[in-house]
Amino acid sequence: MVLKDLGTADWWRQAVVYQIYPRSFSDSDGDGIGDLPGITSRVPYLRDLGVDAVWLSPFYPSELADGGYDVADYRNVDPRLGTLDDFDAMSAALHAAGIKLIVDIVPNHTSDQHEWFQAALAAGRGSDERDRYHFFEGKGENGDEPPNDWQSHFGGPAWHRVDEPDGTPGQWYLHMFAREQPDLNWERDDVRADFEHTLRFWSDRGVDGFRIDVAHYLRKDLSEPFAPFAVVGLGELTLNPDHPFSDRDEVHEIYRAWRKVFDEYTPPRTAVAEAWVHKTRLAPYASAEGLGQAFNFDLLVSEFEASQFREIIEENLERSAETGSSSTWVLSNHDVTRHATRYGLPAGLGHHAAAWTLAGGAHDEVDTAVGEARARAATMLLLALPGSTYLYQGEELGLHEVGDIPAQSRQDPTFFRTEGKEVGRDGCRVPLPWSGTGSSFGFGSDGAHLPQPAWFADYAVAVEADDAASTLNLYRRALALRGELQTAETLTWIEHPSASVLAFERPGGWRSFTNFGSEPVDLPEGEILLASTDSADGRLPGNATVWMR
Ligand code: BGC
Repeated sequence: MVLKDLGTADWWRQAVVYQIYPRSFSDSDGDGIGDLPGITSRVPYLRDLGVDAVWLSPFYPSELADGGYDVADYRNVDPRLGTLDDFDAMSAALHAAGIKLIVDIVPNHTSDQHEWFQAALAAGRGSDERDRYHFFEGKGENGDEPPNDWQSHFGGPAWHRVDEPDGTPGQWYLHMFAREQPDLNWERDDVRADFEHTLRFWSDRGVDGFRIDVAHYLRKDLSEPFAPFAVVGLGELTLNPDHPFSDRDEVHEIYRAWRKVFDEYTPPRTAVAEAWVHKTRLAPYASAEGLGQAFNFDLLVSEFEASQFREIIEENLERSAETGSSSTWVLSNHDVTRHATRYGLPAGLGHHAAAWTLAGGAHDEVDTAVGEARARAATMLLLALPGSTYLYQGEELGLHEVGDIPAQSRQDPTFFRTEGKEVGRDGCRVPLPWSGTGSSFGFGSDGAHLPQPAWFADYAVAVEADDAASTLNLYRRALALRGELQTAETLTWIEHPSASVLAFERPGGWRSFTNFGSEPVDLPEGEILLASTDSADGRLPGNATVWMR
C-alpha cells in the first residue's frame, strides 16, 4: 500500500520537499535576479525531478540586508521578483503539476524598512509604535553604550542606536540578526493578529504550508537585570526554561493559535519549524497542536560516519513516534556549506555544516569526487528513510559550494559584520547553471547577482540531463522509485558484518545499504534497484548506497 497521497491531509508526512532560493533559481527578465516567472518556467523541470512540494525562501519586498529574511511587507512580492499575479500563476502551475507550495514566514523580526519600524522611529520614546519592538535606553553617562553585552548572530552587538525624531542620538533596539532586522515584541496582540492575517492571506491564495523561521526566538523576557552574554550564549541548545530569548515555553501559545488558523482550511495547512533547540525540547514544535513538524538538523552537524548516522536516525524516529509527527531529513539548505563539498573535506576538518567557519582557502583541500560520491550515497540513504526529505536547489546536480567569491561581490551580512573573518553563506546561493554555455549558464539572459565559476558548466542541468550517470539522473530515478516503494513509516535495521555499512529494510522488502568506508563490501542476494555508484562485480564500493529488493 502506498501511503503517500498528495490529495490527503497527510501529504506532508513522507513528502520530498525541494527548497528554492528564489533569487538564485531562474531569472526570466534578465536583471540577474531569479524571479517568480522564472520558477513558473521551470515547473516541468520540478515535475520531471519528481518532487512533491517546493518551499520558497522569502520572495517578499526586502532591502536584502539578509537575503530576503528582512521582510518589509509580508503580504506582497518583491517587485524585482514579480507581482501577486505572478505568484498566483506560479502557484497554479505548481499545483497543475501535482506539486504543493510551502512559503517561508519570518516572524522573529521585520526589516527596518517595514512600516511598523518606520513608524516606531518617527513616533519616538515611550510610544505605542516603539512597543512593537524592543527599544531600551542605553547605559553609560549619555546612554551611548548598549543596554547589555549581547551579541548578534551575524557578528557585532545585538543592539543598535537610533536617532530620535529631533536628530539627537536616542534609544537602542534589539536585533538578534543583522541591524536591519529589528526583533518584534510578541507580547503584543496586534503583532499576533497581523501574523495570523498573513497566514490566512497566503492560505487563501492556495499556499499549502509554511516554514517558520527561527521559530524558537519569538518570546522574550527582557526584564532587567539582563543576564550577561557569557550566560545567555548564542545558538547554544539551551535547557534553561528561563533563557531570555531562546525556546521559552510561552512560544508554544503562539503556535497553538496558528494551528487553529491552519485547521480552518481543507486540507489543513502544514508547517515546519526551524527551531535550533535541544533535542529533548523539539517535541512541542512538532506536535499536532503546534506547528506539526520540526526540522531535525542532526545530520547537518554529523560526520559522514555509519554509527553517527545510525544513532541520529534511531533517535529521530523515536522522537517523531512520540509526537506523532514524521521525521525530517536535511543535508543542505541556504544557510550551510553544500554537502558535496563538506563530504570532500579531509577527515578532521569535519563534514558538519561549517557554513560560518569554512574559509575560502579550505576549498583547496576538498576532494570533489569523493565529496560527490558521498553526497550521492547520503542522499539515497535519506530518501530511503521513513519521513520527509528536504532537498536544496542544486544538490540534485551534485553542485559544490563556491569558495572564491570576491569580497566586492559578497552579500551575506555575516561577511560584513565579521569584517570578512567569516565568509558567510553566499557560496551555496550562487545562481543555478541551467545550460553548459551562454550568459550566466542559462540562469537568465544576462548576468547573475552572485558570480558563477567556470566549473558550473560541468554541472549544468542540460549537460547532466544527457549523461545517464549524472547526479541529476540519479535523483530522478531515486525519486521515481521512492514514489513506488514508500510505505509505512517504519524500518528494520539489517546488521552487516562491516561496521562501515548502514543497512535497513522498509516494509515491502525495500532494502538500502550504505558503505561509509572506502573498501568494497559484499552484498546479500537480491535485485539491485538503484546504485549511487556503478559496481561491476556486484559488490558495494566505498562511499556508495544501493537499494535492493
Ligand atoms: C534563516 C537564515 C536567516 C535567519 C534570520 C534563519 O535561520 O534560515 O537564512 O538569516 O533565520 O532570519
